[in-house]
Amino acid sequence: MQVRDLRRDPRAVDCVPLHRPHNRSHTGPAPPRPHGPWRSALVTLHMDAIDLLESQHRQLEKQFSALKKADAVRPEDFKAASDLLVTHITIEEQRFYPAVQAGRTEDILLESLEEHLSLKRVLADMLALASDDPQFGPKLHVLAEQLEHHHKEEEDHLFPKVKKVLDTKAREKLGADMQALADELEHRAPRKLVLDQTETAATLEPKA
Ligand SMILES: [Fe+2]
Ligand SMILES: [Fe+2]
Repeated sequence: MQVRDLRRDPRAVDCVPLHRPHNRSHTGPAPPRPHGPWRSALVTLHMDAIDLLESQHRQLEKQFSALKKADAVRPEDFKAASDLLVTHITIEEQRFYPAVQAGRTEDILLESLEEHLSLKRVLADMLALASDDPQFGPKLHVLAEQLEHHHKEEEDHLFPKVKKVLDTKAREKLGADMQALADELEHRAPRKLVLDQTETAATLEPKA
Protein backbone atom coordinates (compact mmCIF):
# COMPACT_ATOMS: atom_id res chain seq x y z
CA MET A 1 0.00 0.00 0.00
CA GLN A 2 1.60 3.27 -1.04
CA VAL A 3 1.70 6.26 1.26
CA ARG A 4 1.72 9.64 -0.40
CA ASP A 5 4.06 12.38 0.76
CA LEU A 6 1.59 14.61 2.62
CA ARG A 7 3.96 17.56 2.57
CA ARG A 8 3.76 17.73 -1.19
CA ASP A 9 0.08 17.05 -1.86
CA PRO A 10 -1.94 20.23 -1.30
CA ARG A 11 -5.24 18.29 -1.54
CA ALA A 12 -4.46 15.94 1.33
CA VAL A 13 -6.81 16.01 4.32
CA ASP A 14 -3.79 16.42 6.52
CA CYS A 15 -1.46 18.54 4.46
CA VAL A 16 1.65 19.40 6.53
CA PRO A 17 3.25 22.78 5.76
CA LEU A 18 6.87 22.56 4.62
CA HIS A 19 7.86 25.62 6.61
CA ARG A 20 6.56 26.42 10.07
CA PRO A 21 6.49 30.00 11.36
CA HIS A 22 9.42 30.29 13.73
CA ASN A 23 8.51 33.23 15.89
CA ARG A 24 5.66 31.56 17.74
CA SER A 25 7.41 31.01 20.98
CA HIS A 26 8.39 34.67 21.19
CA THR A 27 5.02 36.28 20.65
CA GLY A 28 3.47 35.90 24.08
CA PRO A 29 1.93 33.32 26.35
CA ALA A 30 1.20 29.83 25.09
CA PRO A 31 -2.28 29.33 23.58
CA PRO A 32 -4.90 27.68 25.79
CA ARG A 33 -4.94 23.87 25.92
CA PRO A 34 -7.08 22.55 23.09
CA HIS A 35 -9.99 20.33 23.97
CA GLY A 36 -10.88 18.27 20.91
CA PRO A 37 -14.23 16.52 20.45
CA TRP A 38 -12.59 13.25 21.57
CA ARG A 39 -11.26 14.69 24.81
CA SER A 40 -14.24 13.41 26.80
CA ALA A 41 -13.40 9.85 25.76
CA LEU A 42 -9.99 10.15 27.34
CA VAL A 43 -11.11 11.59 30.65
CA THR A 44 -12.74 8.87 32.64
CA LEU A 45 -13.62 8.45 36.27
CA HIS A 46 -12.35 4.87 36.09
CA MET A 47 -8.61 4.69 35.78
CA ASP A 48 -8.68 0.92 35.37
CA ALA A 49 -6.66 0.42 32.19
CA ILE A 50 -9.26 -1.90 30.66
CA ASP A 51 -12.15 0.45 31.40
CA LEU A 52 -10.21 3.26 29.77
CA LEU A 53 -9.51 1.23 26.63
CA GLU A 54 -13.08 -0.06 26.33
CA SER A 55 -14.43 3.45 26.69
CA GLN A 56 -12.17 4.56 23.85
CA HIS A 57 -13.30 1.59 21.74
CA ARG A 58 -16.93 2.71 22.03
CA GLN A 59 -16.00 6.32 21.25
CA LEU A 60 -13.96 5.28 18.21
CA GLU A 61 -16.77 3.10 16.89
CA LYS A 62 -19.20 5.97 17.34
CA GLN A 63 -16.99 8.46 15.52
CA PHE A 64 -16.08 6.18 12.63
CA SER A 65 -19.69 5.07 12.24
CA ALA A 66 -20.74 8.73 11.99
CA LEU A 67 -18.05 9.33 9.37
CA LYS A 68 -19.30 6.36 7.33
CA LYS A 69 -22.87 7.70 7.41
CA ALA A 70 -21.93 11.29 6.51
CA ASP A 71 -22.91 12.49 3.03
CA ALA A 72 -19.65 14.45 2.97
CA VAL A 73 -16.89 13.80 5.49
CA ARG A 74 -15.72 17.02 7.11
CA PRO A 75 -11.89 17.03 7.34
CA GLU A 76 -12.01 18.22 10.97
CA ASP A 77 -14.20 15.26 11.95
CA PHE A 78 -11.84 12.84 10.25
CA LYS A 79 -8.83 14.44 11.93
CA ALA A 80 -10.53 14.18 15.35
CA ALA A 81 -11.34 10.49 14.83
CA SER A 82 -7.81 9.85 13.55
CA ASP A 83 -6.26 11.60 16.56
CA LEU A 84 -8.29 9.44 18.92
CA LEU A 85 -7.41 6.28 17.01
CA VAL A 86 -3.68 7.01 17.06
CA THR A 87 -3.79 8.06 20.72
CA HIS A 88 -5.50 4.79 21.54
CA ILE A 89 -3.04 2.68 19.55
CA THR A 90 -0.09 4.56 21.04
CA ILE A 91 -1.10 4.12 24.68
CA GLU A 92 -1.67 0.43 24.00
CA GLU A 93 1.68 -0.05 22.26
CA GLN A 94 3.77 2.07 24.60
CA ARG A 95 2.12 1.32 27.95
CA PHE A 96 -0.58 -1.36 27.99
CA TYR A 97 0.82 -4.15 25.83
CA PRO A 98 4.33 -4.15 27.38
CA ALA A 99 2.81 -4.06 30.88
CA VAL A 100 0.52 -7.05 30.30
CA GLN A 101 3.02 -9.22 28.43
CA ALA A 102 3.08 -12.73 29.87
CA GLY A 103 3.14 -16.29 28.60
CA ARG A 104 -0.63 -16.43 28.31
CA THR A 105 -0.96 -13.05 26.50
CA GLU A 106 2.05 -12.98 24.19
CA ASP A 107 0.48 -14.59 21.09
CA ILE A 108 -2.54 -12.33 21.09
CA LEU A 109 -0.39 -9.26 21.75
CA LEU A 110 1.79 -10.02 18.74
CA GLU A 111 -1.30 -10.55 16.59
CA SER A 112 -2.72 -7.28 17.91
CA LEU A 113 0.44 -5.42 16.92
CA GLU A 114 0.05 -6.74 13.36
CA GLU A 115 -3.57 -5.56 13.34
CA HIS A 116 -2.39 -2.14 14.50
CA LEU A 117 0.06 -2.05 11.59
CA SER A 118 -2.75 -2.74 9.16
CA LEU A 119 -4.88 0.02 10.72
CA LYS A 120 -1.97 2.45 10.55
CA ARG A 121 -1.37 1.72 6.86
CA VAL A 122 -4.98 2.37 5.89
CA LEU A 123 -5.09 5.49 8.05
CA ALA A 124 -1.84 6.83 6.56
CA ASP A 125 -3.29 6.30 3.07
CA MET A 126 -6.41 8.21 4.04
CA LEU A 127 -4.52 11.12 5.61
CA ALA A 128 -2.88 11.64 2.22
CA LEU A 129 -6.23 11.81 0.38
CA ALA A 130 -8.79 14.57 0.05
CA SER A 131 -12.00 13.47 1.74
CA ASP A 132 -13.85 13.66 -1.60
CA ASP A 133 -11.31 11.42 -3.33
CA PRO A 134 -13.05 8.31 -4.76
CA GLN A 135 -10.67 6.09 -2.75
CA PHE A 136 -11.45 7.76 0.58
CA GLY A 137 -14.88 6.17 1.17
CA PRO A 138 -13.82 2.56 0.49
CA LYS A 139 -10.78 2.97 2.73
CA LEU A 140 -12.95 4.46 5.47
CA HIS A 141 -15.18 1.38 5.36
CA VAL A 142 -12.19 -0.96 5.50
CA LEU A 143 -10.72 0.96 8.43
CA ALA A 144 -14.00 0.91 10.37
CA GLU A 145 -14.42 -2.83 9.76
CA GLN A 146 -10.86 -3.62 10.80
CA LEU A 147 -11.29 -1.46 13.88
CA GLU A 148 -14.42 -3.28 15.04
CA HIS A 149 -12.79 -6.65 14.47
CA HIS A 150 -9.71 -5.57 16.42
CA HIS A 151 -11.74 -4.25 19.36
CA LYS A 152 -13.68 -7.51 19.54
CA GLU A 153 -10.46 -9.53 19.57
CA GLU A 154 -9.04 -7.44 22.38
CA GLU A 155 -12.23 -7.50 24.44
CA ASP A 156 -13.03 -11.18 23.92
CA HIS A 157 -9.55 -12.68 24.03
CA LEU A 158 -6.98 -10.27 25.48
CA PHE A 159 -8.69 -8.36 28.28
CA PRO A 160 -10.00 -11.45 30.14
CA LYS A 161 -6.42 -12.78 30.22
CA VAL A 162 -5.08 -9.42 31.37
CA LYS A 163 -7.43 -9.56 34.36
CA LYS A 164 -5.64 -12.73 35.40
CA VAL A 165 -2.20 -11.15 34.93
CA LEU A 166 -2.82 -7.80 36.68
CA ASP A 167 -4.94 -7.19 39.77
CA THR A 168 -7.25 -4.19 40.13
CA LYS A 169 -4.65 -2.03 41.83
CA ALA A 170 -2.05 -2.68 39.14
CA ARG A 171 -4.63 -2.01 36.41
CA GLU A 172 -5.52 1.31 38.02
CA LYS A 173 -1.88 2.38 38.20
CA LEU A 174 -1.42 1.38 34.56
CA GLY A 175 -4.60 3.26 33.62
CA ALA A 176 -3.20 6.42 35.20
CA ASP A 177 0.07 6.03 33.24
CA MET A 178 -1.88 5.54 30.03
CA GLN A 179 -4.04 8.59 30.73
CA ALA A 180 -0.94 10.71 31.33
CA LEU A 181 0.48 9.67 27.95
CA ALA A 182 -2.87 10.34 26.25
CA ASP A 183 -2.90 13.86 27.75
CA GLU A 184 0.61 14.46 26.44
CA LEU A 185 -0.29 13.28 22.94
CA GLU A 186 -3.34 15.51 22.78
CA HIS A 187 -1.13 18.50 21.98
CA ARG A 188 0.85 16.84 19.20
CA ALA A 189 -1.69 16.04 16.45
CA PRO A 190 -1.08 12.34 17.19
CA ARG A 191 -2.54 11.16 13.85
CA LYS A 192 0.71 12.27 12.19
CA LEU A 193 2.68 9.68 14.16
CA VAL A 194 1.40 6.90 11.88
CA LEU A 195 3.23 8.34 8.89
CA ASP A 196 6.50 6.93 10.25
CA GLN A 197 4.99 3.66 11.47
CA THR A 198 3.79 1.91 8.33
CA GLU A 199 6.83 -0.27 7.63
CA THR A 200 6.79 -2.84 10.42
CA ALA A 201 4.71 -3.66 13.47
CA ALA A 202 5.71 -2.21 16.83
CA THR A 203 7.37 -4.50 19.34
CA LEU A 204 6.49 -5.42 22.91
CA GLU A 205 9.56 -3.67 24.33
CA PRO A 206 8.64 -1.16 27.06
CA LYS A 207 8.90 2.44 25.82
CA ALA A 208 10.18 5.36 27.89
FE1 LIG B 1 -5.40 -2.34 19.89
FE1 LIG C 1 -7.84 -1.21 21.77
